[in-house]
This record gives sequence, structure tokens and C-alpha cells, in this order.
Amino acid sequence: MLVRFLTSNALQIAAPAKVNLYLELLGKRPDGFHELETIMTTVSLFDQLHFKTNSTGSVRLRIQMAASAPAASGVSGGSSEQQIPTDQRNLVVKSLRLLQKMAGDSSRWQNDGQTKDLPPPRTVPNTGGSIGGQGMDVTLLKRIPSSAGLGGASSNAAAALIAGNLLWNLGLPVASLHAAAAEIGSDVPFFLTGGTAMCRGRGEKISSISCPVGLSIVIAKPPQGLATPDVFGRCELPIRSRQSQPVIAGIESGRQHEIANFMLNRLQPAASGLLDDILLLEKEFADISCLGHQMSGSGSSYFGVFQNQRTARIAVARLSARRPDLEIHCVKSLGRSGALIA
Ligand code: C5P
Repeated sequence: MLVRFLTSNALQIAAPAKVNLYLELLGKRPDGFHELETIMTTVSLFDQLHFKTNSTGSVRLRIQMAASAPAASGVSGGSSEQQIPTDQRNLVVKSLRLLQKMAGDSSRWQNDGQTKDLPPPRTVPNTGGSIGGQGMDVTLLKRIPSSAGLGGASSNAAAALIAGNLLWNLGLPVASLHAAAAEIGSDVPFFLTGGTAMCRGRGEKISSISCPVGLSIVIAKPPQGLATPDVFGRCELPIRSRQSQPVIAGIESGRQHEIANFMLNRLQPAASGLLDDILLLEKEFADISCLGHQMSGSGSSYFGVFQNQRTARIAVARLSARRPDLEIHCVKSLGRSGALIA
């Protein structure tokens, strides 16, 4: 997450996408979610968010769809017109409203069963559910495709939590922000940390993994997206789960072949049953020289890991010639600071 203050009451955040290098299902939980282990890494495809406080107390969101950049800058294909809500269904609005609520009701964060161990947020004056009457105007420039398994909405939510905490001067500790993130969505806590991490539980328990190399990755998003609940609803638990250790060892040592060899996405068969393009993309990537390939998250985007940027760009040219309907992004994995790794 790259944060830049513009003035004392406005800031800009570049919120990255992620891919899942490993995703294994461990069981079904009583709350309906799946217990899982997933290794996610942030990549250099960013939504841009602009936050400015207002004195009305309301949270207002405006969304602009980024025009697709030419292939030379690492992007090809057209960004499909996506219907992204701007009301409380949007995780940005949800996150900022939750922060307003936390600021006005710190007792909830002491008494809530899930978060009772967390320190309460600093109490700030509450005027009608807002923070000293303050609200937020947000503009979101959308580049990360939606319904793609790239975590765009979750990354936007994490950006909103960071922005609200800073601009409203809440001084919430990391643990409280983390609890708020987990309440918003399973992938949101990961984006507060970024870089490469093992995520357990329903995805909210984060352990960072140090990754000495920047992976060269090509992401292909087919025109049709997939809804996360639909994919989880069709998935099957493995008889025996596959170990994550070989992938972790590959990441820590920077051995890209090892990472690619042991990658896994247990949601892929379920997604393939819902969308033919997953199998078609599997075949396309099998025909180009990449180290390994699979679907990201619950799809529908598919990605390959490449030896270097040169082979990645050759793949972009080939894929976009064969499948002009794909939205293709040539990216690198990021460090925790949000910066590129050499
Ligand atoms: O937490 P989030 O809102 O992103 O989850 C979206 C949906 O994905 C859930 O409603 C659930 O159907 C499914 N899911 C799951 N197990 C997880 C994470 C998500 O079944 N660990």
C-alpha cells in the first residue's frame, strides 16, 4: 500500500492487486466459511484512491474506470464495463462507516466476542455516528478487474481503513485495524500487510514470508468474472491436503522454479465447472514457456510465473494475439513496502 499525503486532510493511496501462489482447503467451518491456507503476494497492478475529509459526516464514493493502457506499458485488452456499487455494498464505504462506528462506540470493541482481546480504539467525539462531524469523499480509479480473484475490493477496503485512521486522526492500533479488516472480508487483513504472506483461518490470520526476488507474472482476465460464493459453494475438500512447505521454501530461497512447481489452487476445479474459459486459459498457458500457471483466488483471472520480464512480455504478445478478448497485465510481485523487488 503506497500512501502519499497531499494536504493535512487529503491523501492518495495506490492499492495493489494480489495473486494466490497456493490455496488449499482444510475443511468447512460451522460459520459456513472454509478453513484454508493460502499464500498471497501483492503485485504491481494498482487501483488509485483519493481520500479527502468533509464536514458533512457522510461517506461519498465516486468511481472512474481506468481506460486500458497500450500493451507497451504492460497492459493490453479492454477493461470490461463493470458495475461496481458506490453505496454501502462497496467495501470502501463499508470500511469507512465501520471506522466511524468504532470511533463512536469503543465499548463494542471491548465486548465483542471475536475482538475482546483487542485494545479499544481511542475515544473521539461522536456527533451522530461520525467523527467530530467528519465524513470522507473518495475517488476510486479502478484498474484491477472485478470478480477476478485479484482482491481489488479487499485492497480498496484496506486502503480505506488506513486512510480513515490517518485522516480522522483516530490513532487506532494495528490490532484494531486488523479486527476491522477481518470484519469487512477474509482477504482484507492481508492487504494491510502486503508483500508475500501465508494466510490461515478464513484468510485473516497473516504470517509474512520474506521473498528475496520479484516474480515476473502475467495475469489474464477473461471477459466473464466469477462470484466468490459461487466458487466456494461448488468446491470439494481434498482427501489429503497438499503441503505448503515446498512453496514457502521456494519463496524464501528465491527459487522460482520451486515456487512454480508446487503452486496449487484447490478452487480451480470448481471454477472450471462454472466457466469454460478457465480450462481454455490453462491450455493457453501450457502452450507458452512459463514456469507454472494457475487461477488466482476464486477466479476468473489466470496467471503464469515467468523466468524474467522478457519471457513474460513475449507471452503477453502471444496471448493477446490469440485471445484479443482477454485483459492482460504484465506485473511483478511486490515487497511489504509496496515497492518492486529487484
Ligand atoms: O470473506 P468474504 O466476504 O471475502 O467471503 C466471500 C464468500 O466466500 C463467503 O461468503 C463464503 O461463501 C466464501 N468464503 C469461504 N471461505 C473462506 C473465505 C470465503 O467459504 N475462507
